[in-house]
Amino acid sequence: MLIDRFGRKIDYLRVSVTDRCDLRCTYCLPKGFKGFEEPRNWLTLDEMYRVLACFSKLGTKHFRFTGGEPLLRKNLASLINKMRNLDHKHDLSMTSNATQLSVHAQQLKESGLDRLNISLDSLRKECVQEITGNDCLEKVLTGLIAAKNAGFTKIKINMVPLIGVNDQDIEPMIAFCIEHDFIMRMIEVMPMGATGKASTGKDLTQLLRKLAPKYKLQESMEILGAGPAKYWKSSDNKFTLGLITPISQHFCETCNRIRLSVDGTLYMCLGQEGAYPLRAMLRAGCSDLELENSIVQAIELKPEKHDFLQEPDKIIRFMSMTGG
Ligand code: 5AD
Ligand code: SF4
Repeated sequence: MLIDRFGRKIDYLRVSVTDRCDLRCTYCLPKGFKGFEEPRNWLTLDEMYRVLACFSKLGTKHFRFTGGEPLLRKNLASLINKMRNLDHKHDLSMTSNATQLSVHAQQLKESGLDRLNISLDSLRKECVQEITGNDCLEKVLTGLIAAKNAGFTKIKINMVPLIGVNDQDIEPMIAFCIEHDFIMRMIEVMPMGATGKASTGKDLTQLLRKLAPKYKLQESMEILGAGPAKYWKSSDNKFTLGLITPISQHFCETCNRIRLSVDGTLYMCLGQEGAYPLRAMLRAGCSDLELENSIVQAIELKPEKHDFLQEPDKIIRFMSMTGG
């Protein structure tokens, strides 16, 4: 079991399987960005599996595959399947932008992936294009339907409300989620990289005060994931809303996660620099015991909390580098 210096149990690893993405969401990556990690520095899927298996041995139960866009990584389903076979109790999930999901949904289901979160900020074609830099709404919607047809349930839609950009899309998104039985989640923008800093997200604690009476929302105690979202349900149970509020109400005291980036670095916090590189030791032929000891040491570096409010300029890496 991994316990950090502040007594938090760390049982959730987010794995960025590639830092590449086919989109350029304004709050995440700059337009035309090309500064991605070189392939020779990517952990191979076998190297990733080795690290993940060590985490599993150290008590990690939840693994989320992220990016960049995880579906750009070739043969990802084989890694998911190996994690499934390693322990059927693992909770295996993925965050994707769904542009390629229609091709992969069935295989992902068969590989043993349990859950899917899809990023979608609007149901208006022009607005999606404005935010992502790509006219991809149709592809995303086709991907979502394919995921439903493949048997994924409780799919979560991640929306990042930006003042003056897609705040008018919140209520249509609620209707869409009710219609398709999706769980809607809204996320406050974090000042990661120049892109995150230049974006003005909505204060979701305030927004909730407006939405709660209209949709008769009550706080839900049901556990709907492994992360920091807090959930509300409408009184008729037809609508579930999750809010992730790193800015207006931070949740660092219950943080249970760390991140592995594609180059084999463990990041302890989205909002701090603490990092522990594993690639060099993996490639130098370290033993599993040495790897486990390094992971335990890395956990010691986990900071108490982020400083997004006090030091908003601090984090220059983009979200896609650490894994969203
Ligand atoms: N702040 C908050 N969320 C972000 N995401 C990407 N960049 C940021 C940011 N700066 C979100 C995306 C996606 C998830 C992977 O991370 O919306 O849903
Ligand atoms: Fe790609 Fe996700 Fe970043 Fe958008 S938020 S550019 S989909 S990694």
